[in-house]
Amino acid sequence: MSIPQERKLLTEIPGPKSREWFARRTAAVPVGVGAIHPIVTARASGSIVEDVDGNRLIDFATGIAVLNVGHTAPEVVAAIQKQAELDTHTCFHVTANEPYIELAERLNSLTPGDHAKKTMFANSGAEAVENAVKIARLATGRTAIVAFDHAFHGRTLLGMTLTAKVMPYKQGMGPFAPEVYRLPFAYPYRCPCGGDTPEACAAACLAYAVDEMHKHIGEENIAAVIMEPIQGEGGFIVPAPGFVKGIADFCAASGIVFIADEIQTGMGRAGRWYAIEDEGVVPDLVTTAKSLGGGMPLSAVTGRAELMDAVHPGGLGGTYGGNPVAAAAALAVLEKIEREDLLSSSRRVGEAVFAALRSLEGTTSIVGDIRGRGAMCAVELVSDRETKEPLGADAMNAITRTCLENGVIVLTAGTYGNVIRLLPPINIDDALLQDGLGVLVSAITAQG
Ligand SMILES: Cc1ncc(COP(=O)(O)O)c(C=O)c1O
Repeated sequence: MSIPQERKLLTEIPGPKSREWFARRTAAVPVGVGAIHPIVTARASGSIVEDVDGNRLIDFATGIAVLNVGHTAPEVVAAIQKQAELDTHTCFHVTANEPYIELAERLNSLTPGDHAKKTMFANSGAEAVENAVKIARLATGRTAIVAFDHAFHGRTLLGMTLTAKVMPYKQGMGPFAPEVYRLPFAYPYRCPCGGDTPEACAAACLAYAVDEMHKHIGEENIAAVIMEPIQGEGGFIVPAPGFVKGIADFCAASGIVFIADEIQTGMGRAGRWYAIEDEGVVPDLVTTAKSLGGGMPLSAVTGRAELMDAVHPGGLGGTYGGNPVAAAAALAVLEKIEREDLLSSSRRVGEAVFAALRSLEGTTSIVGDIRGRGAMCAVELVSDRETKEPLGADAMNAITRTCLENGVIVLTAGTYGNVIRLLPPINIDDALLQDGLGVLVSAITAQG
């Protein structure tokens, strides 16, 4: 059912019904299942979320990067309905289904590189990451895995071990999985290796990383390096140019599997099918999730056929992985992105977001860095531009709360929690985008 694509407030936010439901949520659901915004959804379509009080909010969060093609896209809903009437589940290990096989074929051709590939499906991003690591270990006979500062790879035991930030993802949840090593990420705005230009940052971080892998881990022990081509939860950090390629080249020369974790960056978010395409790198394995299923739980590992086939029969999979309804939804998502050229649309959305964020530079003193690619854009806020002291939690909360109270859903990100990241549908209508950006710009301006 489509909802008029406009912001409309009928009550204060949160409204009385949301507050009532939240009281029930608090009583019934543990606090560990964090709540970012205190509203309850009744329905959603396109770029609008309607809450249980009838308020219509512009969605710049899209379920954390899941609805790149918009909420309840008619083609996706129709594909789900059709498949739900045919077959909802037999378990792919028991009897195969057509959508799984067809989707595997599609991802084998969509992912970067023209070598022979194979794809397996799971349910969540974290599971895809787990499987990619299993495959890399079996294929290389090695155990060590290298991840980066500011990385996020999920909440399972291995996922949280690979994830960098302690609070809230890891605090008190150890012991963590063994054989995981962490290296600095070439974060141009806060170069951990002292580079004062993007080029110097890439060179210094690359030299450090290569030296560390050689001296302290030993390349012959490293099964895989896993990297987000643009870090998502870490704050939409676009690595300094050349860093990703340098790491991938080192991996290729050392027999290390290079895993691109494209769970947040993929499916057109960064203006390409996969963000790594802009780095001139062909990864050995790619993880996809989030917007792949268009709202249905689905994740994938796609990779070189010989690596994917290194695992013995029964070593991969699970009860629900590649559920036919989720796979049918994903086929509709891919077709929509292709048919409507939503990769171009993603880049146009990104230009509009960048223009709005840049307008802040002249009017406020708290903009530290504006960055992103395609429709994956963010602004990092600081209380002092000289020292780059991250803007405090109170001011960040005031920004997201003001946006929400005015009918716009935004998310923060970053190791220091001081990044506003924007994840609108990549096909959002321009007038709606401008309306939402206007609210965001005013909320940021009010802080300084
Ligand atoms: C890059 C990346 N990897 C893995 C994950 C974990 O995905 P999930 O929450 O579906 O397990 C996320 C989720 O935000 C992510 O952004």
